[in-house]
Amino acid sequence: MSETVHVDLGDRAYDVMIGPGLLDQAGALIAPLLTRPRVAIVTDENVGALHLETLCNGLKSHGISSESLTLPAGEATKSWPHLERTVEWLLDQKIERNDVVVAFGGGVIGDLVGFAAAILRRGVRFVQVPTSLLAQVDSSVGGKTGINAPHGKNLIGAFHQPSLVLADIDVLGTLKERDYLAGYGEVVKYGLLGDHDFFQWLEGNASRAAQGDMQARIAAVKRSVQMKADIVQRDETEQGDRALLNLGHTFCHALEAATGYSDRLLHGEGVAIGCALAFELSARMGLCSQEDPSRVRAHLHEMKMKVDLSDIDGELPNAEKLVELMAQDKKVVNGRLNFILARGIGEAFVTADVNPDDVRAVLNDALR
Ligand code: GLY
Repeated sequence: MSETVHVDLGDRAYDVMIGPGLLDQAGALIAPLLTRPRVAIVTDENVGALHLETLCNGLKSHGISSESLTLPAGEATKSWPHLERTVEWLLDQKIERNDVVVAFGGGVIGDLVGFAAAILRRGVRFVQVPTSLLAQVDSSVGGKTGINAPHGKNLIGAFHQPSLVLADIDVLGTLKERDYLAGYGEVVKYGLLGDHDFFQWLEGNASRAAQGDMQARIAAVKRSVQMKADIVQRDETEQGDRALLNLGHTFCHALEAATGYSDRLLHGEGVAIGCALAFELSARMGLCSQEDPSRVRAHLHEMKMKVDLSDIDGELPNAEKLVELMAQDKKVVNGRLNFILARGIGEAFVTADVNPDDVRAVLNDALR
């Protein structure tokens, strides 16, 4: 029942497997990568409590032994102290150049452990076993790894592709509804940035997927991963097209900074709101019709997601301050902010040609 997307990156190519029961089959799926039957797993407390035993049994049933390190859950783990702890632990486990490290968790664990694997002994292989919807459709694929710095998110890192990604769709069944829907913000992003038909499919099927329909979940994750793979194959290190994956992220990063990277706004929620704002900005600039942002917003409303700035609890700064926060975004090049705008649903493009007055106007309308 599982599906495979191949990420074709020459000698760094790998498969993303998508389907139910992959934790149980992990031993058989990972075995071909191993030169000796043992792996080191790094997870977090939430995922570890729910799923580590299943993964270890899946490995053991194929004769693979495992040691595991369990880190605290949450964004604060993507930091120097936990990177140091992870690397030291991997060295204590005597992980050698030919061994494989398993990143078992959401985006935080995937990014941190991928980075640890990138720098350990100048690079060891790692397998991503993403457990959140966001990690399955975005962060586990494409090789961006890293940690946060006091100066900002994801400022320290490396491109290091995994050797295999196992996206077990069963695991999504244990997510809280809010976390599932936040991950869905990244799914809808793919339809909006490059595939009108996928967006239309989501309009008809995403509710079914949110309610747990396995086929709909597999189809949504597979199409998202396929789109990401296509973009990463064209532009692995984000010299051009890969920036399309940042649709909604310029607004999102300002909103995340304004809400202190707290529970007030999860990343995927900010992406969804940011996508709606990016379409509002595109319509204001005359790039797409006003019907497009209305259609985006209608779908997000139907999915019971955060859509408007008023859906974020507590006060937000004014438009001027939000534009200032955008200017601190790492996508600023020579002082100009790159935006991802759209000529219609599924037709996004990258541009630095945006008048800040239009951005302020969109934000002022949204803050009303
Ligand atoms: N999450 C954006 C990227 O992988 O490029």
